[in-house]
Amino acid sequence: DPGLVAEGAKVFKKCKACHQVGEGAKNKTGPLLNGIAGRAVGTIEGFRYSKSFQELSAEGAVWDDAALAAFLAKPKAYAPKTKMSFAGLKKDSDIAAMIAYLKSVSP
Ligand code: HEM
Repeated sequence: DPGLVAEGAKVFKKCKACHQVGEGAKNKTGPLLNGIAGRAVGTIEGFRYSKSFQELSAEGAVWDDAALAAFLAKPKAYAPKTKMSFAGLKKDSDIAAMIAYLKSVSP
């Protein structure tokens, strides 16, 4: 849905202080997010994750829609010791748009 992706791109402004996407994206305060949807949690090369994320990764957690929705709604509820200092997206519509946007950005 191109409308949802465009909406997600707007919401992504809240993430840009820490995350890059698209061609030439690099790890910053947060890992680059190209291809993150469907990817194993905590596996972007060269990024130093929190212990919470290292544990999720060891457990084989994957960024499916449900995991992304839970993390983006309340990062610290999904991963109590995450170092992502972001309160979360309050609106379900913003979360749906963000997931559509993240799916649209590939390496
Ligand atoms: C991790 C998305 C806002 C800093 C992540 C991950 C996703 C994500 C999907 C998991 C990456 C992975 O498993 O490799 C988003 C979105 C945001 C947002 C969609 C906006 C709605 C922010 C902001 C910051 C930030 C504002 C900095 C203040 C981080 C950090 C991690 C992370 C440090 C690594 C977490 C850890 O190791 O515990 N983010 N993020 N993010 N994000 Fe964000």
